[in-house]
Amino acid sequence: MRILSGVQSSGRLHLGNYYGALRQFIELQHEGEALYFIANLHALTTVRDAALARELTRETAVAYLALGLDPKKAVLFRQSDIPEVLDLYWVLGTVVPMSNLERAHSYKDKLARGVAADFGLFAYPVLMAADILLYGADVVPVGRDQVQHVEFARDWATKFNVTYVKGYEPADPTGAGGHPPGVLKLPRFRLRDETAVVPGIDGQKMSKSYGNAIDLFADDKETKKRIMGIKTDSTPVEAPKPPEGPLYDLLKVMAPPAEWPAIEAEWRAGGKGYGDFKKRLLDLFHATFDDARKRRSELLADPGEVDRVLDAGAKRARELAAPIAKSVRRAVGLG
Ligand code: TYM
Repeated sequence: MRILSGVQSSGRLHLGNYYGALRQFIELQHEGEALYFIANLHALTTVRDAALARELTRETAVAYLALGLDPKKAVLFRQSDIPEVLDLYWVLGTVVPMSNLERAHSYKDKLARGVAADFGLFAYPVLMAADILLYGADVVPVGRDQVQHVEFARDWATKFNVTYVKGYEPADPTGAGGHPPGVLKLPRFRLRDETAVVPGIDGQKMSKSYGNAIDLFADDKETKKRIMGIKTDSTPVEAPKPPEGPLYDLLKVMAPPAEWPAIEAEWRAGGKGYGDFKKRLLDLFHATFDDARKRRSELLADPGEVDRVLDAGAKRARELAAPIAKSVRRAVGLG
């Protein structure tokens, strides 16, 4: 099984990235051949400053390693180190229906928020599909907001195969039933239901761009401020609290399963204020991330080590991409 996923280097990572995606990445590195990358090409749709783009690329690499990605088990690389992905991006774009891109949730969501759309933002899912298909990924762990993109990748792989592989039968994509196999493998998303959408401090989906994130690596003061700033209602201290809202949801996401029933019982019993539960969440945050936060500082102080990991990762990722990149070129008549 080949597992692949990526995170944009468009800002600091937050709890949504961790529980929605990175925690799964770390777990899955033991279950198959895992490839994880820093989507620094995608990040160019929002980061327009070269020095910052470089810094965030490194920050994201460091975050992966600090959170437990083991470079002996998983391949870690920068998206931009594999030029073949841009080749496939273009070729794939020639079979992608415009109507798919026009109904992409993340694109529509950004438009609705008043973001001035450019071609990069519009074509974003095509590059993401190229990321997935170039390495023949079987499984793509993501949070809910990326599911549609993985489904697009699957649809477009079929479209490509139907267009370019004579006799390709969509019902027999691997050729096990005697038809010619596709050039591009069909990927599947993997979602964890409990953490598919981690809420931000205002109750909307936690997102770098909504200003509602709790970052994994902010300083202690900032972290405390964010957690104490989680939106709550006006239920009095003595009263039972309604089992909903971002504070409840974040406690549920962060509490170790063995501790959650006790926390929930206190929540429902009344007698404790939201401030107490926020302190509890802050303690859980530190208990969960302080080791990673320490490792991150150590890694930032040793840039040579991070470069070595990324260079080795790029080499390996390119090796894995090469046969598929070549088959694609051959299939369309470029090679
Ligand atoms: P990005 O950088 O926005 O997010 C990285 C991962 O974090 C998940 N995530 C969340 N999960 C639950 N709750 C949240 N509040 C939350 N916020 C973010 C995302 O679903 C994602 O899994 N386009 C991708 C990067 C990418 C990619 C790829 C992913 C580029 N190429 C190929 C997989 C395969 C993105 O912008 O993720």
